Amino acid sequence: RELSSFTLVLFGAHGDLAARKLYPSIYQLALWGQLPENYRIIGVGRSGGSGHHEFRELVRNALEEHARADGGDSERIEEFSRHLFYVQADLNDAAGYERIRHEISEGRDRDGTCGNVLYYLSTPPSLAPVIVSHLQKAGLGGREYSCEGERKIVIEKPYGHDLQSARELNGVVGEVFHEDQIYRIDHYLGKEPVQNILVFRFSNGMFEPLWNRHYIDNVRITIAEDFGIRGRGAFYEETGLLRDIVQNHGLQLLASVAMEPPVNLGANAVRDEKNKVLCSLRRFSSETAAGHVVLGQYEGYRDEKSVDPASNVETCADIRFFIDNWRWKGVPFTMKAGKNLAERVTEIVITFKCPPQNFFGPPDSCSSYTSNQIIIRIQPEETIAVRFGAKRPGEALVTDPVFMKFDYRDAFDIRGMSPYQRLLLDAMAGDQMHFIRQDAVENSWEVIDSIKKAMEGVVPRSYPVHSWGPEPGLPPGNPLTVNR
Ligand code: BG6
Repeated sequence: RELSSFTLVLFGAHGDLAARKLYPSIYQLALWGQLPENYRIIGVGRSGGSGHHEFRELVRNALEEHARADGGDSERIEEFSRHLFYVQADLNDAAGYERIRHEISEGRDRDGTCGNVLYYLSTPPSLAPVIVSHLQKAGLGGREYSCEGERKIVIEKPYGHDLQSARELNGVVGEVFHEDQIYRIDHYLGKEPVQNILVFRFSNGMFEPLWNRHYIDNVRITIAEDFGIRGRGAFYEETGLLRDIVQNHGLQLLASVAMEPPVNLGANAVRDEKNKVLCSLRRFSSETAAGHVVLGQYEGYRDEKSVDPASNVETCADIRFFIDNWRWKGVPFTMKAGKNLAERVTEIVITFKCPPQNFFGPPDSCSSYTSNQIIIRIQPEETIAVRFGAKRPGEALVTDPVFMKFDYRDAFDIRGMSPYQRLLLDAMAGDQMHFIRQDAVENSWEVIDSIKKAMEGVVPRSYPVHSWGPEPGLPPGNPLTVNR
């Protein structure tokens, strides 16, 4: 894709996300020749005068630590540094936005970066309304923009804290930018195997006819991490696992697996279908949550730094969702997401119903263990496996489960992009397909709010570090308890 010249204004220039993900991704794009000749990155932060020099030093250090192993030499980093500029700003103070405006127009005059501006908010959620309102006051918003070029805004998760705050945020941002200028980022949507779900389902004739309640017994989504909150005690106390992982990554995976075919591949056509799934996702009440939601907290969480010693914040969730629509009625979509679980794995397992008659084993032997499955593994491996029964060599007719496997690494000899690289490129190019639209954000929050409300006062169950969460998990009959 040919990109026009642009200026990226990064709020949160000193943040952890910027250092670990954003600078390395932008740099990698530059290294691969995917950026136009003229571009400027303006870092905005609280500290350090107007020091372009210090900022370049900060980015250089971040790249040395976090860029890919094939990340080029110091000369290339030096060349990249020439595109970096810094503005010191107190985000609550109009003066800082004047400096940002000045720096943007400097670029336009000097480097011919035209009027294309991409704001990137890598800041705590509470700052988003503040920044956006100030942008508007400084004449830097998207709606009233008349000069040639585009203005867009990328906003990091968490997008709000609940339905009400998300609506308020949508209201504020929506006054300053049109929906087609707003890019709500969820880096899971930049992962190759996640983007492939659409292709796997709708570019093949053999899976989709079976992809419904008539043939699928259950769908299981696992987002497991084998590490804890990694020092983010204050953030976790505010957020918890449901808001941190399920509201965004988890429900986006679910929507990708469950959506109807879009009418075309336009960003809105795809997002329409995903949003419909979220509309049909059954909300919880305290009655339904009792049988369908188990929350856990790993042992030792309360001893983490900045965590309340009596905290009841969840670090793990087992949820059985139901989608009340024509395709999925009655099919459980179970989701397990958690910190400090036994393994780091993200996968979607689609389990098919048993054959009507079981010749090859005891009458009730068809279970999640032996039935057909499609296993979409998103990480650490990037694979899709189809599991089916095969005759074990020998005289007797005995079946064993075997796998047919597709592995991205073996199938394609192409250097992969990181999720942030891909999504930044999409945002620069104006492709919103892999960004979350306002209606989907709000529907996701409505689901999470219903769980939060239904589970109010329920103390999460403790689980040992590096286990599969609280035992027992969901009540019997739940496919989660069969496998993990
Ligand atoms: C982030 C969450 O959005 O995603 C983290 O805030 C989580 O808590 C991370 O660890 C997981 O991302 P990935 O790409 O490592 O699976």
